[in-house]
Amino acid sequence: MSDALNTPETLSEPAPRGPGAALPRTRAKGEPRFPDGPRADPAGSHFERRIRSFQPRRSRVTPGQAEALQRLWPTWGLDIDGQRVIDLAELFGNDRPVVLEIGFGMGEATARMAAADPGTNVLAVDVHTPGQGNLLGLADRGGLDNVRVGNGDAIILLREMLRPDALDGLRVYFPDPWPKKRHHKRRLIQPEFLTLAATRLKSGALVHCATDWEPYAEQMLEVLTAHPDFENTRADGGFAPRPGFRPLTRFEGQGLDKGHVVNDLLFRRR
Ligand SMILES: C[S@@+](CC[C@H](N)C(=O)[O-])C[C@H]1O[C@@H](n2cnc3c(N)ncnc32)[C@H](O)[C@@H]1O
Repeated sequence: MSDALNTPETLSEPAPRGPGAALPRTRAKGEPRFPDGPRADPAGSHFERRIRSFQPRRSRVTPGQAEALQRLWPTWGLDIDGQRVIDLAELFGNDRPVVLEIGFGMGEATARMAAADPGTNVLAVDVHTPGQGNLLGLADRGGLDNVRVGNGDAIILLREMLRPDALDGLRVYFPDPWPKKRHHKRRLIQPEFLTLAATRLKSGALVHCATDWEPYAEQMLEVLTAHPDFENTRADGGFAPRPGFRPLTRFEGQGLDKGHVVNDLLFRRR
């Protein structure tokens, strides 16, 4: 994503048509895609070369998403630059509980969950620009004041920008499965990640993961069960049925269409 954002390309705003219409403008190298919107790779060079759990996706930003990014990012967006510790009460304008969602994709499930639970603030993080615009638009149209959209690597957010015990919950729905063995190190749910997340989660916080990739589900269950800071909410120590509060997500729908089995995991921070 970040590399794609630094590459010259045709702006995605619809080109004017008809005689005399200007040719589509080409963005110069380094010129921001949305001057008031999310920055390209905000934590880029400040930190060590790190393994990334996301992959670049070069997808089109629709005019509606572009408009939402330009208009709403200055108020509801957060660039994850790793350069400051953020005060979540200030970010949301209240001191309601805050749940972090890592990897919201296009944000439909995020918006639905935020609408269903206005007493909970949702800090939704992804690197996917069209999704950021989409979620901002959904939050705006839905009148949701409890959603903020983070742009960048959630690991940097957790490590550099959140205080200990800042979070009341963590959601990771359908993280990139990285099916090839040589890519397993890029999977988000690993012991080191859980150790970091545990420092930012309050005691009793719910950690909710879901995946349609069964080997990854097994790995999640194994590392969460083995981690001393988390306990399974399931007495049988296994997967949970999808709770009614989690709507079907876009990636989940695609997985189900392929015949994949979906597993939810519901653990608590001890
Ligand atoms: C397979 S998609 C799932 C999206 C959505 N949850 C759904 O179910 O439709 C995984 C998303 O996680 C994002 N992601 C992966 N690792 C991330 C990280 N470290 N920080 C922020 N976003 C991340 C990716 O960019 C991608 O949009």
